[in-house]
Formats: sequence, C-alpha cells, structure tokens
Amino acid sequence: MTRRTHSSTTEPTSSTSTSDTPSTSPEPRLGDRISLLTDRRGVLRVAGVVVGAGALAACSSPPVPTASADSSGGAAAAGGTPTSEVPVGGGTVFPDTMTVVTQPTAGTFKAFDAVCPHQGCTIGSVENGQIICPCHQSHFDATTGDRVSGPAPTGLTAKTITVTGTAFTVS
Ligand code: FES
Repeated sequence: MTRRTHSSTTEPTSSTSTSDTPSTSPEPRLGDRISLLTDRRGVLRVAGVVVGAGALAACSSPPVPTASADSSGGAAAAGGTPTSEVPVGGGTVFPDTMTVVTQPTAGTFKAFDAVCPHQGCTIGSVENGQIICPCHQSHFDATTGDRVSGPAPTGLTAKTITVTGTAFTVS
C-alpha cells in the first residue's frame, strides 16, 4: 500500500513503455546508457573525438617567428639595417621608425623623417629621385628632402644616418 508513494515519484515521466520491468528499478535506463558507451561504435566515436581534439591542439600551436621577419623596419632603430635594403637611385620607407632612407648615388645614404609636413601622412615611396607622400602628392627631393611640389609647406626633416660597413643606423 505504501508502495505508491515511492512509485508515484518516478511515474509521472514514465508514460513510455518499458513493459517488462516494473517502474521501481532504474536499471533499464542505466543499462541502456552503459550499453551505448560500451557499444563498439560508441567507443570509436569517443576515441575519435579525443584524437580530433589532440590534432586540433597540435595544429593550433603558435608559429615560430623567423629572424628575417623582424630585420627590416625594427632593426633601423636598434642599429644595423643592411644597406642592401635601400636601392641605388631609390629609397626605402621604414614605417616602424617613421624614417625614409635614400641612396641617390651608390654608397651615399640620406635619411629623413617620414612624416609629411603637410598633414602628417606617412611617406609612401621613393621614385625617380623624389620622395612622395601618397595623401596629397607632395614630392620631396630624395637627396636634400626639400619640397619639390604639392601642398606641403616645407621639406622633410633630415635625420642623421651612420653607415658602418654594410649596415646603417639612423638617429
Ligand atoms: Fe602629405 Fe598632404 S599629408 S601631401
């Protein structure tokens, strides 16, 4: 008679038919779950997930930085940018240090502040003996930094460049 109290707590959700076993024992459901886990396919699926996670972890490791990746702009301030990075008759912009270095003739190097005196854009390129600001097309002489054309009110500010062997530093 008092069994009802016990079975009534589990019966409201047990309208599904597990016909052979009485509702007093939870063993069929637990057994089903265990059989799913120990089922051959179930074990393979679990193993696949673990292997897949391991593979993802291996693939997501950060890339190893290369020495060459940091050798252009950042090295100019630290001391020792190869002179080969500046073409003869042209120049190179180093945005990290806001510097443009030119080599008007072989072995002659000039350095200027890469901030355009017009509205502060960064110098974009060196072409045909001129340093060019891409924002409003101010042009500057690649040897002296003087303004050649465009809206810039003045020339570029010169920096001190020191060449030692095959490397240079700018201050
Ligand atoms: Fe360089 Fe205007 S900011 S030309």
